[in-house]
Amino acid sequence: MNSDRVIIFDTTLRDGEQSPGASMTREEKLRIARALEMMKVDIIEAGFPIASPGDFDSVKAVAGLVKNSTVCGLARALDADIDRAGEALQPAASGRIHTFIATSPIHMEHKLRMQPEQVIEQAVHAVKRARNLIDDVEFSCEDAGRSDIDFLCRIIEAAIDAGARTINIPDTVGYAIPHQFGATVAELLQRIPNADKAVFSVHCHNDLGLAVANSLSAVVQGARQVECTINGLGERAGNASLEEIVMALRTRKDLLLLETNIDTRHIVSISKLVSGITGFPVQPNKAIVGANAFAHESGIHQDGVLKHRETYEIMSAESVGWTTNKMVLGKHSGRAAFKSRLKELGIDFGTESEMNNAFARFKELADKKHEIFDEDLQALVSDTSASEIPEFYKLVYSEVCSRTGETPVAKLTLSVNGQEHSVECAGDGPVDAVFKAIEEIADSQATLSLYSVNAITRGTDSLGEVTVRLEKGGRIVNGSGADTDIIVASEKAYINALNLLLGSTERAHPQIADV
Ligand code: KIV
Ligand code: ZN
Repeated sequence: MNSDRVIIFDTTLRDGEQSPGASMTREEKLRIARALEMMKVDIIEAGFPIASPGDFDSVKAVAGLVKNSTVCGLARALDADIDRAGEALQPAASGRIHTFIATSPIHMEHKLRMQPEQVIEQAVHAVKRARNLIDDVEFSCEDAGRSDIDFLCRIIEAAIDAGARTINIPDTVGYAIPHQFGATVAELLQRIPNADKAVFSVHCHNDLGLAVANSLSAVVQGARQVECTINGLGERAGNASLEEIVMALRTRKDLLLLETNIDTRHIVSISKLVSGITGFPVQPNKAIVGANAFAHESGIHQDGVLKHRETYEIMSAESVGWTTNKMVLGKHSGRAAFKSRLKELGIDFGTESEMNNAFARFKELADKKHEIFDEDLQALVSDTSASEIPEFYKLVYSEVCSRTGETPVAKLTLSVNGQEHSVECAGDGPVDAVFKAIEEIADSQATLSLYSVNAITRGTDSLGEVTVRLEKGGRIVNGSGADTDIIVASEKAYINALNLLLGSTERAHPQIADV
């Protein structure tokens, strides 16, 4: 099954969500799924349905919504997982069950506590059970990167015979090196007698920073599906980044002779959407989607680019959706203009109430800031997401006094489950003062493990986007908030994180839950 097209399998909503603190609500997942579909992703892995009722609902909702991409649900090689995934995928126009079992000696012995023969038996049983529910079944050999190649050949041949149409080779722990990983894929394709009956896929983690290189190396050797995530989100150091895979294939088509179906013009806006929703900022020098990815600082470079863009640019900023930061909307823009610009940015609200909420925030922002850029709209959308979390804690009033040579003091009123409490606190800076004030009332006992501020556009009237990461009892949440006032954005982010900590997230992890 070799062709010149590489299938793009996005797992932002599943593996991406396994990043500590990257949990998404059903509505947020729907918003991302809509954007992925618009970008023409082939397969959207929407979640792990058995993990929790919430995960089941999200996969089902994405399956019911998306029409032009295949929607996939993850299942361990267990009857209950597979049946639950099949149920969640029922509304899908095109659905896929992705079942997996570990194949490396270390995982089989210490995690599964199973003999290799039992693992093959369970894999075959799982694939057959999934095929009874759905035609499109993918089988993954978890930790293939550290598995014995002879064993991989045996289990993959059996899985294809049992009906798997896609065989995924994950480098689960990010251990592979490009030439070696490519050689493994080449050997599997060459040695497995029925390899031509399935699409070979790769799923690389980025622990050594090699996820994209390993995926491309496998593709060169014949893999035709790449599993990846927006912004490289994912477990630990993340997964191969979708934007880097897609743009490498596109930019070096001359060498690789391969293509994808992705509409690359949506890349930047979906990157911002995912970053805003998860609270994981994108580093400025990140390839393709970082703020500096197309910025030329040095005079020689600027001169070159102005004379002839290709002197220093291998792809155009517009081709991945960077706009020229043009002013798009203002105070007098109406609802229709607002809605239509969001649509062009790949942002589509599911319900009228979400839309109304976002429009109200847009009007508030337009009163404070005359020129509204695309980046402001994107931040506003993630702020709208934050506001959809049930507000046990709510900011009522705050006043911060900060004078040269004096300790800043915050006066703050917080509503806690409807009851107002006021405090006054000093701090080592205005942000420290407001956080101390919030904590004095909330007494969350949570640890603040990240505080980051990002200016959305260039001017001093730019929206500041703040991420606050809180940890408590092994749980990690990322709160976000945006405002032209950094202190207010910080308060919003902290309060959002506190509200997220209260939400229930009892869910099984696919790879570490007991079998
Ligand atoms: O990294 C991994 O092995 C996975 C599998 C479930 C495909 O995420
Ligand atoms: Zn993974």
